[in-house]
Amino acid sequence: MAHEHITLSRWLIEQERSHGHIPGSLRLLIEQVARACKRISRTVSRAASSGALGSLGSENVQGEVQKQLDVIANDVLLEANEWGGHLAAMASEELETIHAIPHRFPRGEYLLMFDPLDGSSNIEVNITIGTIFSVLRLPDGVATVRAEHFLQPGRQQVAAGYCTYGPQTTLVLTLGHGVAVFTLDLDDSGFVLVKEHLAIPRASREFAINMSNMRHWAPPVRRYIDECLAGRDGPRGVDFNMRWVASMVADVHRVLERGGVFMYPWDAREPDRAGKLRLLYEANPMAFLVEQAGGMALAGHQRILDIEPTGLHQRAAVMLGSSDEIERLGRYHREALGIE
Ligand code: AHG
Ligand code: MN
Ligand code: MN
Repeated sequence: MAHEHITLSRWLIEQERSHGHIPGSLRLLIEQVARACKRISRTVSRAASSGALGSLGSENVQGEVQKQLDVIANDVLLEANEWGGHLAAMASEELETIHAIPHRFPRGEYLLMFDPLDGSSNIEVNITIGTIFSVLRLPDGVATVRAEHFLQPGRQQVAAGYCTYGPQTTLVLTLGHGVAVFTLDLDDSGFVLVKEHLAIPRASREFAINMSNMRHWAPPVRRYIDECLAGRDGPRGVDFNMRWVASMVADVHRVLERGGVFMYPWDAREPDRAGKLRLLYEANPMAFLVEQAGGMALAGHQRILDIEPTGLHQRAAVMLGSSDEIERLGRYHREALGIE
Protein backbone atom coordinates (compact mmCIF):
# COMPACT_ATOMS: atom_id res chain seq x y z
CA MET A 1 0.00 0.00 0.00
CA ALA A 2 1.32 3.42 -0.93
CA HIS A 3 2.20 5.35 2.18
CA GLU A 4 2.21 9.13 2.16
CA HIS A 5 5.39 10.43 3.71
CA ILE A 6 4.71 13.38 5.96
CA THR A 7 8.08 14.71 7.03
CA LEU A 8 8.67 16.33 10.41
CA SER A 9 9.11 19.70 8.64
CA ARG A 10 5.78 19.37 6.85
CA TRP A 11 4.02 18.24 10.00
CA LEU A 12 5.40 21.20 11.94
CA ILE A 13 4.39 23.68 9.24
CA GLU A 14 0.89 22.19 9.14
CA GLN A 15 0.68 22.45 12.93
CA GLU A 16 1.67 26.08 12.68
CA ARG A 17 -1.09 26.65 10.09
CA SER A 18 -3.84 24.71 11.79
CA HIS A 19 -3.23 25.87 15.34
CA GLY A 20 -1.90 29.30 14.52
CA HIS A 21 -0.21 29.54 17.89
CA ILE A 22 2.96 27.59 17.19
CA PRO A 23 5.52 30.28 16.44
CA GLY A 24 7.88 29.74 13.51
CA SER A 25 10.89 30.01 15.80
CA LEU A 26 9.64 27.09 17.91
CA ARG A 27 9.22 25.03 14.76
CA LEU A 28 12.78 25.77 13.67
CA LEU A 29 14.07 24.98 17.15
CA ILE A 30 12.36 21.56 17.12
CA GLU A 31 13.79 20.84 13.67
CA GLN A 32 17.24 21.65 14.99
CA VAL A 33 16.82 19.35 18.00
CA ALA A 34 15.64 16.60 15.63
CA ARG A 35 18.71 17.13 13.45
CA ALA A 36 20.92 16.72 16.51
CA CYS A 37 19.09 13.50 17.44
CA LYS A 38 19.68 12.20 13.94
CA ARG A 39 23.40 12.77 14.38
CA ILE A 40 23.38 11.12 17.79
CA SER A 41 21.52 8.16 16.30
CA ARG A 42 24.25 7.71 13.69
CA THR A 43 26.98 8.00 16.33
CA VAL A 44 25.22 5.45 18.53
CA SER A 45 24.82 2.92 15.73
CA ARG A 46 28.50 3.23 14.83
CA ALA A 47 29.78 3.32 18.40
CA ALA A 48 31.16 -0.22 18.52
CA SER A 49 33.18 0.13 15.31
CA SER A 50 34.37 3.69 15.94
CA GLY A 51 35.61 3.09 19.47
CA ALA A 52 32.98 5.33 21.09
CA LEU A 53 31.87 2.78 23.71
CA GLY A 54 32.99 2.77 27.33
CA SER A 55 33.56 5.28 30.08
CA LEU A 56 35.63 8.44 30.13
CA GLY A 57 36.81 8.19 33.71
CA SER A 58 35.10 11.51 34.53
CA GLU A 59 31.99 12.19 36.60
CA ASN A 60 29.13 14.57 35.89
CA VAL A 61 27.64 17.05 38.38
CA GLN A 62 25.51 14.29 39.93
CA GLY A 63 28.58 12.16 40.62
CA GLU A 64 27.72 9.65 37.90
CA VAL A 65 30.44 8.15 35.72
CA GLN A 66 30.25 9.69 32.25
CA LYS A 67 30.28 7.42 29.24
CA GLN A 68 31.89 8.62 26.02
CA LEU A 69 28.46 8.73 24.40
CA ASP A 70 27.00 10.86 27.22
CA VAL A 71 29.57 13.52 26.42
CA ILE A 72 29.37 13.18 22.63
CA ALA A 73 25.57 13.46 22.68
CA ASN A 74 25.78 16.49 24.96
CA ASP A 75 28.28 18.20 22.63
CA VAL A 76 26.15 17.46 19.56
CA LEU A 77 23.08 19.02 21.19
CA LEU A 78 24.97 22.10 22.38
CA GLU A 79 26.62 22.70 19.03
CA ALA A 80 23.50 22.11 16.94
CA ASN A 81 21.35 24.45 19.00
CA GLU A 82 23.75 27.29 19.72
CA TRP A 83 23.65 29.25 16.50
CA GLY A 84 20.00 29.02 15.38
CA GLY A 85 18.87 32.22 17.10
CA HIS A 86 15.89 30.56 18.83
CA LEU A 87 17.42 29.96 22.24
CA ALA A 88 18.53 32.07 25.17
CA ALA A 89 20.25 29.21 27.04
CA MET A 90 20.44 25.46 27.51
CA ALA A 91 20.69 23.18 30.55
CA SER A 92 21.80 19.57 30.52
CA GLU A 93 22.18 16.61 32.83
CA GLU A 94 25.86 16.61 31.87
CA LEU A 95 26.53 20.30 32.66
CA GLU A 96 26.82 21.75 36.13
CA THR A 97 25.55 25.19 35.17
CA ILE A 98 23.49 26.59 32.32
CA HIS A 99 24.99 27.13 28.88
CA ALA A 100 24.13 30.67 27.77
CA ILE A 101 24.12 31.31 24.02
CA PRO A 102 27.49 32.90 23.11
CA HIS A 103 27.33 36.60 22.25
CA ARG A 104 28.39 36.02 18.66
CA PHE A 105 25.00 34.41 17.97
CA PRO A 106 21.57 36.06 18.13
CA ARG A 107 19.61 35.31 21.29
CA GLY A 108 16.13 33.82 21.08
CA GLU A 109 13.19 33.52 23.45
CA TYR A 110 13.36 29.83 24.41
CA LEU A 111 15.18 27.70 26.97
CA LEU A 112 16.14 24.13 26.08
CA MET A 113 16.78 21.38 28.62
CA PHE A 114 17.97 17.88 27.85
CA ASP A 115 19.15 14.52 29.07
CA PRO A 116 21.52 13.94 26.14
CA LEU A 117 21.69 10.20 26.61
CA ASP A 118 19.19 8.43 28.78
CA GLY A 119 19.80 4.84 29.81
CA SER A 120 23.60 5.07 29.88
CA SER A 121 23.91 1.72 31.65
CA ASN A 122 22.48 0.10 28.50
CA ILE A 123 25.01 1.56 26.04
CA GLU A 124 27.53 -1.29 26.14
CA VAL A 125 24.87 -3.99 26.03
CA ASN A 126 23.24 -2.59 22.88
CA ILE A 127 19.83 -1.96 24.42
CA THR A 128 17.62 1.02 23.53
CA ILE A 129 18.82 4.40 24.81
CA GLY A 130 17.61 7.89 23.96
CA THR A 131 17.59 11.66 24.27
CA ILE A 132 14.94 13.55 26.28
CA PHE A 133 14.25 17.28 25.81
CA SER A 134 12.02 20.04 27.12
CA VAL A 135 11.40 23.61 25.95
CA LEU A 136 10.36 26.56 28.12
CA ARG A 137 9.88 30.22 27.28
CA LEU A 138 12.35 32.70 28.74
CA PRO A 139 10.34 34.95 31.07
CA ASP A 140 9.70 38.43 29.63
CA GLY A 141 12.16 41.21 30.30
CA VAL A 142 15.16 39.06 31.25
CA ALA A 143 18.46 40.69 30.31
CA THR A 144 20.87 38.09 31.69
CA VAL A 145 19.76 34.48 31.64
CA ARG A 146 20.39 32.62 34.88
CA ALA A 147 19.63 29.13 36.18
CA GLU A 148 16.61 30.48 38.10
CA HIS A 149 14.85 31.22 34.79
CA PHE A 150 14.74 27.48 34.11
CA LEU A 151 12.96 26.85 37.43
CA GLN A 152 9.44 26.91 36.01
CA PRO A 153 6.80 24.28 36.73
CA GLY A 154 6.48 21.65 34.00
CA ARG A 155 2.99 22.81 33.01
CA GLN A 156 4.68 25.83 31.42
CA GLN A 157 6.58 23.68 28.90
CA VAL A 158 5.85 24.72 25.31
CA ALA A 159 7.27 21.53 23.80
CA ALA A 160 8.78 18.27 24.95
CA GLY A 161 9.87 15.02 23.43
CA TYR A 162 12.36 12.24 23.22
CA CYS A 163 14.18 10.24 20.63
CA THR A 164 14.93 6.53 21.10
CA TYR A 165 17.93 4.85 19.55
CA GLY A 166 16.84 1.22 19.31
CA PRO A 167 15.64 -1.14 16.61
CA GLN A 168 14.19 2.03 15.07
CA THR A 169 15.11 5.64 15.75
CA THR A 170 11.84 7.14 16.94
CA LEU A 171 11.02 10.76 17.75
CA VAL A 172 8.03 11.41 19.98
CA LEU A 173 6.88 15.00 20.29
CA THR A 174 4.29 17.26 21.86
CA LEU A 175 3.73 20.95 21.30
CA GLY A 176 0.80 20.89 23.71
CA HIS A 177 -1.75 19.66 21.14
CA GLY A 178 -1.45 15.89 21.49
CA VAL A 179 1.48 13.56 20.86
CA ALA A 180 2.93 12.59 17.48
CA VAL A 181 5.42 9.82 16.65
CA PHE A 182 8.01 9.98 13.86
CA THR A 183 10.46 7.40 12.64
CA LEU A 184 13.86 8.04 11.06
CA ASP A 185 13.63 6.94 7.46
CA LEU A 186 17.10 5.77 6.54
CA ASP A 187 16.45 6.12 2.78
CA ASP A 188 15.80 9.84 2.75
CA SER A 189 17.40 10.26 6.18
CA GLY A 190 14.61 12.36 7.66
CA PHE A 191 11.92 11.88 10.30
CA VAL A 192 8.52 10.86 8.91
CA LEU A 193 5.20 10.75 10.72
CA VAL A 194 3.98 7.32 11.83
CA LYS A 195 1.26 8.17 14.32
CA GLU A 196 -0.67 11.19 15.59
CA HIS A 197 -2.99 11.70 18.55
CA LEU A 198 -1.37 8.98 20.63
CA ALA A 199 -3.75 7.81 23.37
CA ILE A 200 -2.66 5.77 26.39
CA PRO A 201 -5.32 3.20 27.33
CA ARG A 202 -6.94 4.12 30.68
CA ALA A 203 -6.68 0.59 32.00
CA SER A 204 -3.63 -1.62 31.98
CA ARG A 205 -2.20 -4.76 33.53
CA GLU A 206 1.50 -4.03 33.10
CA PHE A 207 3.91 -2.23 35.41
CA ALA A 208 7.57 -1.18 35.24
CA ILE A 209 9.65 -0.64 38.36
CA ASN A 210 13.09 -1.75 39.51
CA MET A 211 11.96 -4.55 41.84
CA SER A 212 15.40 -4.90 43.41
CA ASN A 213 14.61 -1.77 45.46
CA MET A 214 11.43 -3.24 46.92
CA ARG A 215 12.71 -3.38 50.50
CA HIS A 216 13.38 0.38 50.37
CA TRP A 217 9.98 1.53 49.05
CA ALA A 218 7.39 3.59 50.89
CA PRO A 219 4.22 1.75 52.03
CA PRO A 220 1.87 3.05 49.25
CA VAL A 221 4.21 1.82 46.50
CA ARG A 222 4.66 -1.47 48.31
CA ARG A 223 0.90 -1.83 48.63
CA TYR A 224 0.29 -1.21 44.93
CA ILE A 225 2.98 -3.66 43.75
CA ASP A 226 2.02 -6.30 46.35
CA GLU A 227 -1.54 -6.18 45.00
CA CYS A 228 -0.31 -6.50 41.40
CA LEU A 229 1.91 -9.45 42.34
CA ALA A 230 -0.97 -11.21 44.11
CA GLY A 231 -2.61 -11.45 40.68
CA ARG A 232 -5.88 -13.27 40.19
CA ASP A 233 -6.04 -14.43 43.79
CA GLY A 234 -5.40 -10.96 45.24
CA PRO A 235 -7.59 -7.87 45.71
CA ARG A 236 -7.21 -6.80 42.05
CA GLY A 237 -8.53 -10.14 40.79
CA VAL A 238 -6.30 -10.13 37.67
CA ASP A 239 -2.75 -11.11 36.79
CA PHE A 240 -0.24 -8.37 36.04
CA ASN A 241 2.82 -8.42 33.81
CA MET A 242 6.15 -6.68 34.49
CA ARG A 243 8.78 -5.02 32.24
CA TRP A 244 11.93 -3.04 33.12
CA VAL A 245 14.31 -1.91 30.39
CA ALA A 246 16.21 0.49 32.69
CA SER A 247 16.16 3.19 30.02
CA MET A 248 13.38 5.61 30.92
CA VAL A 249 12.92 6.51 27.24
CA ALA A 250 12.23 2.89 26.28
CA ASP A 251 10.01 2.13 29.28
CA VAL A 252 7.97 5.32 28.79
CA HIS A 253 7.74 4.67 25.07
CA ARG A 254 6.16 1.29 25.77
CA VAL A 255 3.69 2.94 28.14
CA LEU A 256 2.77 5.57 25.52
CA GLU A 257 2.30 2.92 22.83
CA ARG A 258 0.35 0.28 24.74
CA GLY A 259 -0.37 1.53 28.22
CA GLY A 260 0.98 0.52 31.61
CA VAL A 261 2.62 2.12 34.59
CA PHE A 262 6.21 3.35 34.87
CA MET A 263 7.57 4.16 38.30
CA TYR A 264 10.79 5.36 39.84
CA PRO A 265 9.50 6.29 43.29
CA TRP A 266 11.24 7.79 46.29
CA ASP A 267 13.03 5.09 48.27
CA ALA A 268 14.88 4.86 51.55
CA ARG A 269 18.34 4.29 50.04
CA GLU A 270 18.84 8.06 49.90
CA PRO A 271 15.96 9.39 51.99
CA ASP A 272 16.79 13.06 51.38
CA ARG A 273 16.44 12.65 47.63
CA ALA A 274 12.94 12.90 46.14
CA GLY A 275 13.73 10.14 43.65
CA LYS A 276 16.36 9.10 41.13
CA LEU A 277 15.10 10.80 38.01
CA ARG A 278 15.69 14.48 37.32
CA LEU A 279 12.69 16.82 37.32
CA LEU A 280 13.59 19.29 34.58
CA TYR A 281 14.87 17.02 31.84
CA GLU A 282 13.40 13.61 32.66
CA ALA A 283 10.22 13.80 34.78
CA ASN A 284 8.70 17.01 33.32
CA PRO A 285 9.04 16.26 29.59
CA MET A 286 7.76 12.71 30.08
CA ALA A 287 4.89 13.91 32.29
CA PHE A 288 3.92 16.47 29.63
CA LEU A 289 3.90 13.78 26.90
CA VAL A 290 1.94 11.33 29.04
CA GLU A 291 -0.71 13.92 29.96
CA GLN A 292 -0.97 14.99 26.32
CA ALA A 293 -1.66 11.33 25.49
CA GLY A 294 -4.46 11.19 28.08
CA GLY A 295 -2.45 9.54 30.85
CA MET A 296 -1.44 10.81 34.30
CA ALA A 297 1.91 11.62 35.90
CA LEU A 298 2.30 11.97 39.67
CA ALA A 299 5.08 12.36 42.20
CA GLY A 300 3.39 10.59 45.13
CA HIS A 301 0.16 12.52 45.65
CA GLN A 302 1.22 15.56 43.61
CA ARG A 303 0.97 16.20 39.87
CA ILE A 304 4.53 16.27 38.47
CA LEU A 305 3.78 19.25 36.20
CA ASP A 306 2.77 21.35 39.24
CA ILE A 307 6.06 20.91 41.15
CA GLU A 308 7.79 24.27 41.65
CA PRO A 309 11.45 23.54 40.88
CA THR A 310 14.14 24.78 43.24
CA GLY A 311 17.27 23.52 41.46
CA LEU A 312 18.44 22.66 37.96
CA HIS A 313 19.35 19.09 38.81
CA GLN A 314 16.59 18.47 41.32
CA ARG A 315 15.16 14.94 41.51
CA ALA A 316 11.56 13.84 41.52
CA ALA A 317 9.59 10.73 42.32
CA VAL A 318 7.90 9.50 39.15
CA MET A 319 4.74 7.45 38.59
CA LEU A 320 3.18 7.80 35.15
CA GLY A 321 1.02 6.03 32.61
CA SER A 322 -2.51 4.64 32.34
CA SER A 323 -4.84 6.94 34.25
CA ASP A 324 -6.86 4.30 36.14
CA GLU A 325 -3.66 2.87 37.63
CA ILE A 326 -1.97 6.21 38.37
CA GLU A 327 -5.20 7.48 39.93
CA ARG A 328 -5.15 4.42 42.21
CA LEU A 329 -1.49 5.01 43.11
CA GLY A 330 -2.29 8.64 43.91
CA ARG A 331 -5.13 7.51 46.17
CA TYR A 332 -2.83 5.06 48.02
CA HIS A 333 -0.38 7.92 48.62
CA ARG A 334 -3.14 10.28 49.84
CA GLU A 335 -4.53 7.59 52.15
CA ALA A 336 -1.06 6.98 53.63
CA LEU A 337 -0.75 10.71 54.32
CA GLY A 338 -4.27 10.96 55.69
CA ILE A 339 -5.30 13.54 53.06
CA GLU A 340 -8.39 13.32 50.93
P1 AHG B 1 20.69 8.27 32.82
O1 AHG B 1 21.30 7.19 31.99
O2 AHG B 1 20.34 9.50 32.02
O3 AHG B 1 21.46 8.60 34.07
O4 AHG B 1 19.23 7.76 33.32
C1 AHG B 1 19.08 6.45 33.78
C2 AHG B 1 17.77 6.35 34.50
C3 AHG B 1 16.59 5.98 33.64
O5 AHG B 1 16.77 5.99 32.28
C4 AHG B 1 16.22 4.60 34.09
O6 AHG B 1 14.82 4.46 34.15
C5 AHG B 1 16.84 4.46 35.45
O7 AHG B 1 17.91 5.36 35.49
C6 AHG B 1 17.34 3.07 35.71
O8 AHG B 1 17.77 3.01 37.00
P2 AHG B 1 18.19 1.63 37.73
O9 AHG B 1 19.53 1.27 37.16
O10 AHG B 1 18.22 2.01 39.18
O11 AHG B 1 17.14 0.61 37.41
MN1 MN C 1 18.30 9.79 32.10
MN1 MN D 1 21.68 10.75 30.76
